[in-house]
Amino acid sequence: MENAILQLCYLIGSITFIMGLKMLSHPDTARKGNLLAAAGMIIAIFATIFLYEHEGHKLHNYVWIFAALILGTVVGTVAAKKVQMTAMPEMVSLFNGMGGACAMLISLVEYNKPEVKTTGSMVVIALGMLIGTVSFAGSMIAWGKLNGKIKDRTIPGGQIINFLIFGGLIALVVSVVGGFFPATPALFYGILALAALYGILFVMPIGGADMPVVISLLNSFTGVAAAFGGFLYDNPVMLTGGILVGSAGTILTILMCKAMNRSLKNVLLGSFGGQKAGAAGAAKDQGNYKEISLNDTAVLMAYAQKVMIIPGYGLAVAQAQHICHELEKILNEKGVEVSYGIHPVAGRMPGHMNVLLAEADVPYEKLLEMEDANDQMGSTNVVLILGANDVVNPAAKDDPASPIFGMPILEVEKAEHVIVNKRSMKPGYAGIENELFFRPKTSMLFGDAKKVLQSLVAELKQV
Ligand code: TAP
Repeated sequence: MENAILQLCYLIGSITFIMGLKMLSHPDTARKGNLLAAAGMIIAIFATIFLYEHEGHKLHNYVWIFAALILGTVVGTVAAKKVQMTAMPEMVSLFNGMGGACAMLISLVEYNKPEVKTTGSMVVIALGMLIGTVSFAGSMIAWGKLNGKIKDRTIPGGQIINFLIFGGLIALVVSVVGGFFPATPALFYGILALAALYGILFVMPIGGADMPVVISLLNSFTGVAAAFGGFLYDNPVMLTGGILVGSAGTILTILMCKAMNRSLKNVLLGSFGGQKAGAAGAAKDQGNYKEISLNDTAVLMAYAQKVMIIPGYGLAVAQAQHICHELEKILNEKGVEVSYGIHPVAGRMPGHMNVLLAEADVPYEKLLEMEDANDQMGSTNVVLILGANDVVNPAAKDDPASPIFGMPILEVEKAEHVIVNKRSMKPGYAGIENELFFRPKTSMLFGDAKKVLQSLVAELKQV
């Protein structure tokens, strides 16, 4: 009977996880989806603690279990409440690393159990150890890089060293599992040591700003490692969760690469960084750019029929989302139709702009995905670019020599007027010049996004 209840709880955990994941794909349902999946997980965890039985034994060390649960809950809640939006990838990386560490510890514990192991369980233990450890070590390095404690470092011959370590890891796993040698602890702990080294060396040379792609990849590794744990304990929730996280992480990694028009190999081998320096060095003389005053901007926008705002990384840095929503409301009051053009990789993490604008209660219907925004661009009078750069760079379409050539962009030049707000003529993340700033339709409105928007709102109130 108890086992039937346990299996039912696992079923509830799996179903709510799948439903929650589906609900996460739309901002209207995302919060509820998160809570639903969390509730299902809580049911599965408590069912395991009180009902799980293995060879007649139940879990009994409740003090340890609940102390860990309480500590983890408190640390996780405080960290999530305190984190700044721009530091989100950093926190995801840290939490993901903890998942990898769990998979690693599961393998360690299971390996050290005295019971005789089948080849199948040894495969699962060894691979869980390998993938979990790579994910843990790699995520810790990614976390250190994002918070500035670890600098990007290219190791001479690094790719060859990584290749050799990877070969060594495969050889160790095959020998531990295949029984070619006695599966001595030395061989097994060799996997742990080499996997940790591999995780560190593999993430170390990758450019700091490429981290979101790497984190998403490491996230999928953690999912796969957790799924191995599910096999080991015959636990359907761990299996479902692990497989879903593994596949979702892989899909997200591919989508991010596609949206930047870069291959995963290109991101992992860091060749973008090399091109970056070359491209910046070869900056050609673009001629002059023109500036626009706040007053002229206010007049132009107030008398427009359609305005499209293009948010970018700079808007997040300036934390100008609330005043941006103010601007939108004032324009609406004046009868101007306002929408937002959202590029899939604007900002520094997936969905960065959507979350940022949702924080300021911008209605979701006003956010246009790139294709829809481009369709509407021709009928737009004024495009206001707020702290975006690469995602509106025409070189992605026109210049085959550009490192971002082929990346889909927001085609802002189809609109009547283009106003760009940023603090200087400095390049964005890709490190390349943006010819858009020198084109006849474009006017520059220099300054910090928050301050400029505050002044613009004040001006608009007078128009
Ligand atoms: P970027 O190309 O990075 O440009 C941001 C611009 O914001 C900069 O040129 C900067 O110019 C300006 N800025 C910074 N602080 C500002 C402030 N306080 N006020 C006003 N402007 C400010 O941003 P983007 O157009 O959003 O493109 C994102 C880039 O990140 C893409 O190249 C993308 O491939 C990459 N990336 C994205 C992701 C994801 S998943 N979103 C992941 C990895 C990499 P000034 O310094 O002159 O102000």
